[in-house]
Amino acid sequence: MTNKLKYFIGNWKMFGSFASLRIIYRIERFCIRFKRYGKKNKIILCVPNTLISLFSSKLKSQIVSIGAQNCHQHQSYGPFTGSVSATMLKNAGAKYVILGHSDNRSEGDTNLIIKKKIKSALNQKLHIIFCIGENLKDKNLGKTFSVIRSQIKGSIDKKYNLNKIIFAYEPVWSIGTGKVPKTKELKKTFIFIKREIKKNYKIERFPIVLYGGSVNDSNIKIFSSIVEIDGFLIGGASQSSKKFIDIIKNYYK
Ligand code: 13P
Repeated sequence: MTNKLKYFIGNWKMFGSFASLRIIYRIERFCIRFKRYGKKNKIILCVPNTLISLFSSKLKSQIVSIGAQNCHQHQSYGPFTGSVSATMLKNAGAKYVILGHSDNRSEGDTNLIIKKKIKSALNQKLHIIFCIGENLKDKNLGKTFSVIRSQIKGSIDKKYNLNKIIFAYEPVWSIGTGKVPKTKELKKTFIFIKREIKKNYKIERFPIVLYGGSVNDSNIKIFSSIVEIDGFLIGGASQSSKKFIDIIKNYYK
């Protein structure tokens, strides 16, 4: 049920300027050194749209990939003021795009809108980081699994190329709060998600599923005991090269 490759994905949210290139350079230098120790990691930084083009043109090694954080459901160009499409993200140099993040769900993204966004992004040959997760009310009502099931069913069409979709389980109550799920609970949820997707989409291997929500350099070690976790989607702590690098280092300690 595990994928050997581990993903460390940063979601910068609304953070960063051109000067933040130095953060990316430090992470890239670390990754090149770290690779020599034989660690198999995939490092992706999902940055604001204003930085995608600069960052992807400056990174030479391909060891760090640049992604975006959202896109409009309309695939190419259109009268949608302030919006950016998958075509435009691809053109700017993005290889990945986060879709279904709870920040965007709370601003109105429904399962159906997210489904259309995924379709547009897949048509542009972008890889998707698809976020799912229950809020505190659902958790307290014992609805975690049913919420996750309906988010997946509502947004992932049977025809979509599952090889291009990375799932990220991010309980909404854990994002930015410092709270993380109990290890036993988290393991159960991961097993549920992996089995559910494999069964419903008739894929041969288990999908890649990441954990996100208050991951930092001090708590990362507790997650390494859960073999079903294929990596992490890291918010606040990915805005500092030191913290991001320490997360990777401490995971393997
Ligand atoms: P934090 O790591 O800041 O809790 O954010 C998680 C997140 O939303 C990543 O997408």
